[in-house]
Amino acid sequence: MSNQISHTPLPDLDLWEDDLLRRYPDPDTIASSKTKEEYRNYEEPSRDSVKEFYRLNHTHQTYAFVEEKKREFLKFDKKEMPIWDAFDFLNQLVDDSDPDTDLDQFQHLLQTAEAIRADGHPDWMVLTGLFHDMGKVLCLFGEPQWAVVGDTFPLGCAFSDKIVYPEFFQANPDYHHQLYSTKYGIYAPHCGLDKVQLSWGHDEYIYHMMKDYLPECALYMLRYHSFYAQHREHAYDHLLSKHDQEMFYWVNLFNPYDLYSKNPVPPDWNKLKPYYEDLVAKYLPATLKF
Ligand SMILES: [Fe+2]
Ligand SMILES: [Fe+2]
Repeated sequence: MSNQISHTPLPDLDLWEDDLLRRYPDPDTIASSKTKEEYRNYEEPSRDSVKEFYRLNHTHQTYAFVEEKKREFLKFDKKEMPIWDAFDFLNQLVDDSDPDTDLDQFQHLLQTAEAIRADGHPDWMVLTGLFHDMGKVLCLFGEPQWAVVGDTFPLGCAFSDKIVYPEFFQANPDYHHQLYSTKYGIYAPHCGLDKVQLSWGHDEYIYHMMKDYLPECALYMLRYHSFYAQHREHAYDHLLSKHDQEMFYWVNLFNPYDLYSKNPVPPDWNKLKPYYEDLVAKYLPATLKF
C-alpha cells in the first residue's frame, strides 16, 4: 500500500462530519429539512473509513507534531490571494461521495452563515460561519486528512476516554510519555485553553488567520469548533479557566449551525452576494495570507 493511500482513508474529506451527526444526532433548535433518523443512515463502508481516519489521527497527532505544523503553517508564507478567490481555492476540495449533500465547501459555509443570519445573530457571527472551515485548504497544501479535520483534543496531558475511539491513542507515542500521560501533564489546573496545545487541524489554522480581525467570541468559535470532547463531553473542565467556561457559551451557540444547517437546496448566491461582499469588507483585509 502506498503512503499516499494509507493517509487518505476518507473517500470524502467531510465524512467525519457526517459521522459527527451519528454521534450527536440532535438538531434541536435548528430548522432542517432532514429528520434525525435520516441523519443516522450511513453505509458501513463510510463508517469503516471514518474509523481508519481516526486511527491515523490518534496515532500521529503528538505534541511534537503540532509544534512542527505550527512552525510550518503559522508563517502564512504559502500563498496570498483576494478573499473571494480563496473560496474558489477551497472549492477545489470536491465532495463526490458525500451521503448527506453534494454541495461544495462554499455551500456548507454559506448555509452555516445563512442559518446564523436567519436567527438574528450579530454580523461577526455570520462572518464566522462563512469562514469557519476555510482552514481545510491545508489539504490543498498536501496535508493528510488526519492533520486537517476530525475532533480536536489537548496534547501534553492525558487523552480523555471521552474522545471518540480512545483506544487508538495507545499507538500514540505521547500515550507512553511519563509526563504527557498524566491528568494535567505539562499544565497547571485551570491554566486556560490558550496555554493548551490542541491537536493540529483546520480549526487552529483559521483561528490564527483571523485573530487580528474578529471579536474574541468569534475566535473561540473558530478555534474550538471541533473540540467535541470539551464542548459536548466536558472532558477537560480541569484545564479551562473561568474565562474559557464563559466563552464556551459562544462555541456551544455556534456548533448546531455547523452540524445541522446542511440543506440540499442551495441559497440563491446572486441575491446574497452584495450582503456578503459588504460584510467581508467591513471586517477583513482585501487579501488573505495562507
Ligand atoms: Fe470545521
Ligand atoms: Fe463546518
